Amino acid sequence: MNHSDSEIVASILAKEGYETSTTPDGADLVLLNTCSIREKAEYTVMQRINEMKHYKQVKPDMKVGVLGCMAERMREDLLKQKKVVDLVVGPDAYRSLPFLLDEVDGGQRAVNVLLSREETYGEIEPVRLDSNGVTAFVTIMRGCDNMCAFCVVPFTRGRERSRDPKSIENECRDLVSKGFKEVTLLGQNVDSYKWAPQKTNNSGEQQAERGKEIFDFADLLALVANISPALRVRFSTSHPKDMSDKVLEVMATHSNICNYVHLPVQSGSSAVLKRMNRGYTREWYLDRIAAIRRLMPNAAISTDIITGFCGETEEEHQETLSLLKEVRFDMAYMFKYSERPKTLAARKYPDDVPEEVKGRRLQEVIDTVARTSSVGNKRFIGSEQTVLIEGVSKRSAANMFGRSDRYTTVIVPKVFGNSFLAAGDYVSVQISSATASSLQGEAIAIVQNG
Ligand code: 5AD
Ligand code: SF4
Repeated sequence: MNHSDSEIVASILAKEGYETSTTPDGADLVLLNTCSIREKAEYTVMQRINEMKHYKQVKPDMKVGVLGCMAERMREDLLKQKKVVDLVVGPDAYRSLPFLLDEVDGGQRAVNVLLSREETYGEIEPVRLDSNGVTAFVTIMRGCDNMCAFCVVPFTRGRERSRDPKSIENECRDLVSKGFKEVTLLGQNVDSYKWAPQKTNNSGEQQAERGKEIFDFADLLALVANISPALRVRFSTSHPKDMSDKVLEVMATHSNICNYVHLPVQSGSSAVLKRMNRGYTREWYLDRIAAIRRLMPNAAISTDIITGFCGETEEEHQETLSLLKEVRFDMAYMFKYSERPKTLAARKYPDDVPEEVKGRRLQEVIDTVARTSSVGNKRFIGSEQTVLIEGVSKRSAANMFGRSDRYTTVIVPKVFGNSFLAAGDYVSVQISSATASSLQGEAIAIVQNG
């Protein structure tokens, strides 16, 4: 999400004549796009802000701005605490950046942290940053209305709003015409994407057309998948309480929608899920997993887990471990609970699981996922996988890396017959070995579509 926001900001500033740079050295303006999701993320940003003092000493007229969730959460306090910061801009205020920069040029420090109910940056054509020319992120909605008890996002990113499907389609078509082969549709909860067809009323304003059916996430997935069979489609993040069979059916009937679902469970205990305000039980979650496996037997499934949420007992933690063993996730992002100001949990429940217990439980979760995912990868040895090549492997220049449609990293030798594999190639790969996080194999053929 943050990467995608940086691309929108780069686009807004490109119109003002700014160019992007790969280093703060000599830059006129440094913008730090920030995350507030856990305390550690904010701590890292604070250190990064401090580093900016050094660059300002070398180039005193350099300006420093803080964007995103921390800007929203801390507002004017950031200017008070960090003298090096010149401007603070929340996630819905990026269009005001040129105006704010004028204020800064006039010697003032500037803040805009207004949240919006409408802003989607819909028509802004993002400038692709750090692009491999093959894969791109496309934001389909902003904000979140869910109020999970641990989560700061509803406070920093505001109310949920969906982007016009036409502008999403246009962006994806444009990416295809530029040679991109994969898009990831992004939203905090993509399953609640909805768009009411609009018409212009007598006063020239856009208004939802009455009697027209709502265009939902399943419809959007089909729309994007139908743009080109050579375009792979991924999305993130799904929400267990909202993920419908209709979405799974669209996935199953479009071969270019990848066989991969990221479905954060957070905890395997219904009591903890209730305290977390997640809106589903362990049984409901397992039913959604069963639906994925029924409609897409080969799909990879990943999840997010939080250990040591308020009041989590040893038995409740054991329920998480048992769920991990039952589902056998291909991958998981795992975190210790970190209390965030203003959230429901911060107001309602004491953060009472000791740090060392959170850490020990996290390690048990990591070990359990590692065991199940390495067994999972081994079963692909001997199989053929279609891999979209993304670039040269970080470990060895003799190899390329790409991903299977289950999102598993696959390593293949760069040399193929009399030529070389290149980023953007779809390659059929015979898998010969596997680790917990990747597959290795030999290219057999270049194929047309993913
Ligand atoms: N503490 C720890 N992890 C958190 N997440 C969100 N908020 C918190 C928090 N306060 C995790 C959740 C979410 C992922 C993006 O970050 O697992 O799914
Ligand atoms: Fe946060 Fe829950 Fe919204 Fe995800 S769905 S962004 S965890 S409030």
